[in-house]
Amino acid sequence: MSNKSTALVIGASRGLGLALAEEYLTRGWQVIATTRGHSEGLDKLRQRFGVSLEIEQVDIIDLSSVRALRGRLDARELDTLFVNAGICKANELTPLQVAEKDYLDMLLTNALSPMRVIELFHDRVKVDGVVATMSSELGSIADSTGFWELYSSSKAALNMLMKSFHARHVEDTRALLLVAPGWVRTDMGSQDALLDVSESIPLVVDVVNRNAGVPGLRFINRHGDELPW
Ligand SMILES: NC(=O)c1ccc[n+]([C@@H]2O[C@H](COP(=O)([O-])OP(=O)(O)OC[C@H]3O[C@@H](n4cnc5c(N)ncnc54)[C@H](OP(=O)(O)O)[C@@H]3O)[C@@H](O)[C@H]2O)c1
Repeated sequence: MSNKSTALVIGASRGLGLALAEEYLTRGWQVIATTRGHSEGLDKLRQRFGVSLEIEQVDIIDLSSVRALRGRLDARELDTLFVNAGICKANELTPLQVAEKDYLDMLLTNALSPMRVIELFHDRVKVDGVVATMSSELGSIADSTGFWELYSSSKAALNMLMKSFHARHVEDTRALLLVAPGWVRTDMGSQDALLDVSESIPLVVDVVNRNAGVPGLRFINRHGDELPW
């Protein structure tokens, strides 16, 4: 186990996070995958990959649960931290229509909480490792067409917070990535999405791995192209 690269994937019960866990395992990595409840998908991966997969519990909007996970992983060194967890609520609504709680839930889950995870875990990542979080093409203010405006604004907020984190850690040698996976068929992406998970996640893992040892902040898509902020 000690010679293997290790990835911590936050929010891996289903969808893109589960696919990330599977992709790293298939590539021979040690994976610590988190869920906030029971995950059939992770159970199946555990049957296939045995002790290479460690399953942990965390709810990222519960700071005490994030701190508890940090405590449990205190002795671990990560090659990659990938914060994938996110939600989409009231995506078709406008600021006047949305229930305030739904919007606040999105900001808490998609922007503040991923950054709290990064604040608490980034020193567990090797100095030539990668800190990645799942952003979205929709998080680009420059490219916005107004589509899914409330969700998009939560990802733009995530991008801003990551940029501010970078500004506080300019000397940091780790790569800091905001990754846009494309529009992918998951519970969130819906069956109308353009891409199958298999057309996104292997490319996402390729691009994250290519960024190891390349310091600095980048907002990129699954091909590694830089996106306009
Ligand atoms: N699918 C797309 O087209 C697309 C495009 C761009 C960006 N993204 C982003 O990619 C990420 C994954 O999306 P997805 O399509 O895989 O969505 P999904 O199928 O709805 O899965 C979301 C994942 O996030 C977890 N999660 C949600 N809230 C959490 C919390 N408070 N604490 C811990 N885990 C939490 C969920 O866990 P539970 O099972 O416990 O709910 C689940 O594992 C999200 O950040 C999303 O915004 C997706």
